[in-house]
Amino acid sequence: MTETISASAADRAASIMRRADELAAFTATSGEITRLYGTPEFRAALDLVTSWMEAAGMSVTIDQVGNLRGRYDADPAVPHPRSFAIGGHLDSVRDAGRYDGVLGVLTGIAFVEGLAARQRRLPFHVEVIACADEEGGRFVSYLGSRSLAGSLDPETLQMRDDAGITLADAIREFGGDPDRLAENRLDPGSLLGFVEVHIEQGPVLEQRGLPVGVVSAISGAIRASISIEGVAGHAGTVPMPMRRDALTGAAEFILAVERLAGEVDGMVGTVGQAAVGPGASNVIPGRVDLTVDLRHPNERLREEVARRLQDALAEIGERRQLATLWQDAHGYPTVECDIDFVSRLLDAIADEGYEAIQLASGAGHDAVPISEITPVAMLFVRCKGGISHNPAESITADDVEVAIRVLDRFLLTIATAVAASFQLDE
Ligand code: HGY
Ligand code: MN
Ligand code: MN
Repeated sequence: MTETISASAADRAASIMRRADELAAFTATSGEITRLYGTPEFRAALDLVTSWMEAAGMSVTIDQVGNLRGRYDADPAVPHPRSFAIGGHLDSVRDAGRYDGVLGVLTGIAFVEGLAARQRRLPFHVEVIACADEEGGRFVSYLGSRSLAGSLDPETLQMRDDAGITLADAIREFGGDPDRLAENRLDPGSLLGFVEVHIEQGPVLEQRGLPVGVVSAISGAIRASISIEGVAGHAGTVPMPMRRDALTGAAEFILAVERLAGEVDGMVGTVGQAAVGPGASNVIPGRVDLTVDLRHPNERLREEVARRLQDALAEIGERRQLATLWQDAHGYPTVECDIDFVSRLLDAIADEGYEAIQLASGAGHDAVPISEITPVAMLFVRCKGGISHNPAESITADDVEVAIRVLDRFLLTIATAVAASFQLDE
């Protein structure tokens, strides 16, 4: 349904809520939202977003890995205009909410619709980017944004999903060429910056009674894959003292993650995946594969807790005669948001009449890899109960309207600054 484009923030907010509901229908499993990278439902979501981008007057391309990129051209009077990118992602975790990542893409389109409704062009291109596989639910987190930043290591292409399909084959299946990923890299010189509007995924804004807040920094993460090998055996015959049970060893380790992370203020530690083998009720588990996700803004503290966990794993293995292995996965450093963008966003919130606060993000975002090539900013939107990565994710149209107004102000102050640098009448 092609909607009439409106400059009104309220109309654009209502449209975003409707569109988020439409996108929620694209899922692997009806009754929940699971939209993994490269799947038919992921493709259907990209196709629908493409139609919205084109209706808003953007030219749309899909790059070699599946990042969807809509561009609203700059004022033709501007010589060699650069771009300002507005990000989000259309992939989801399993059994997700409907706003995580989607909100960034839809507010980016809404910003452009506001310009188009007023036949306005800025002294830079506006590029709305829906990044591929931000969650890493199928392959690796930040797949799309790492390829935009040029930091995707080639061996990642050999990673396999649960069905044993390599990333390289998934890219081909999706219409891309894994041998040409270098073409995805954004030229840092062509970028003015990157901003994403995202649900907070935490309780701070709701507790403070605020619709939006500015992200100061994105906490870094250490991620690891853990394997624990014991001896599978008959559940009915092996006496307890003689067992080398991989699952009871894993249970001890999981509790160590909870305890050691809990001892450090602000540290969060999660074991989100656990696979038990051979997985029969009458067989003593011979092998367990786990993931560890450890986050804290302070690098030294993250490393220290990771070291303590590795020691705990080794001690459990020694005592229970289990073979244990800790393999680092795709972690990332803490990223500070650009202080000029932070201050412009704070001013924009204050100009809208709200208390303007900064808050750190415990969740990771595409801004992490993108920060390697351009300054980044994020605007958080209040979400009910701070709930996310959960179908109960909930935001209000009123808060989205505030976010749109703030994003408008933020990008228009940048436009004024850029125009001044060209001595152009903005
Ligand atoms: O894991 C994260 O923090 C993000 O949701 N991908
Ligand atoms: Mn997420
Ligand atoms: Mn997200």
